[in-house]
Amino acid sequence: MAFEAVERMVHYLEPMIIMAISGIREFPYNMPYILHMLLTFNWRDLLLTSGICGPLVLFVTLADILFVQRNPRLLFKPKELQDLWFARFWLFLGPIISYNERDHSPVPELVHSSTGVVLELGPGSGEQLYCYDIEKITHIYGVEPCLALIPALKAKIKELGLQDKYTIVPHVVEDLGKLMEYGVEEGGVDTVLSIRVLCSVRNVEETVRGVYRMLKPGGKIVFFEHIRSRYLFPRLLEEVYNIPWSYMIANCHLNRPTDKILVRGLEWAEVDMIEPVGQKSFAVVPYVYGTLVKAGKA
Ligand SMILES: C[S@@+](CC[C@H](N)C(=O)[O-])C[C@H]1O[C@@H](n2cnc3c(N)ncnc32)[C@H](O)[C@@H]1O
Repeated sequence: MAFEAVERMVHYLEPMIIMAISGIREFPYNMPYILHMLLTFNWRDLLLTSGICGPLVLFVTLADILFVQRNPRLLFKPKELQDLWFARFWLFLGPIISYNERDHSPVPELVHSSTGVVLELGPGSGEQLYCYDIEKITHIYGVEPCLALIPALKAKIKELGLQDKYTIVPHVVEDLGKLMEYGVEEGGVDTVLSIRVLCSVRNVEETVRGVYRMLKPGGKIVFFEHIRSRYLFPRLLEEVYNIPWSYMIANCHLNRPTDKILVRGLEWAEVDMIEPVGQKSFAVVPYVYGTLVKAGKA
């Protein structure tokens, strides 16, 4: 009994102590991935996904706008500037993440489990397209609001010969009216696929409710998303890091309880939500993944 109590105390204290020490030691590199990756000693991810990338990519984007495109007016269009900045960031990072995930992540298998009519949220530059089991797919609607990523997405679709099976919807997923204009039917979707997207939408509750409406009874949402930490210290760091992070990485939020929002107030017949193997309890960017099946007869 006493041993259990000590064990539990260590379980809760350990991440806090480690986070506190690391947070001080690594200052001023106070960006979540730097800290997270240092803790997990993954130098490649540290360099590539760290907060170093955001400002660096902004610098390159500004130089490109001023000296290559010679279009300074773009600097006064915040949405377009943020799109260009994020697209450059993602075109660099997306393929690397996807390459690393081929063997060490549940993402390929999750994408592979998609069937029928698929609503893919935020496909970005289409890095996951190769994972679809295309025989099981009727049609994919890829909802991508970052216009600067769409040429890369189109190129991937062409490369994989998916032109007849893939429709790009260049809007935000919250805009259900636009989805319907492009042919998505309410209650007609078999799979909603969301890989690292709910962190960036304007409102997760609204988005989850919206895509739930679009799902058929018996349809599923397949997701891989980062969420708010369950622990106090990482959570505090998330709140601090989130201030520059959400601005730099196109509205990506580190502090969203997406795991809870996904199940709150909705009727799911099956809930399968897991944490990646080896995820540290003090991770500042913890993930969950899985599948939720909408209740009702198909
Ligand atoms: C981190 S990227 C992930 C891209 C891709 N799913 C992957 O994992 O390779 C997030 C993507 O979500 C998109 N996104 C952001 N807000 C969105 C919204 N409201 N509706 C649909 N997509 C959105 C972004 O433009 C971006 O392409």
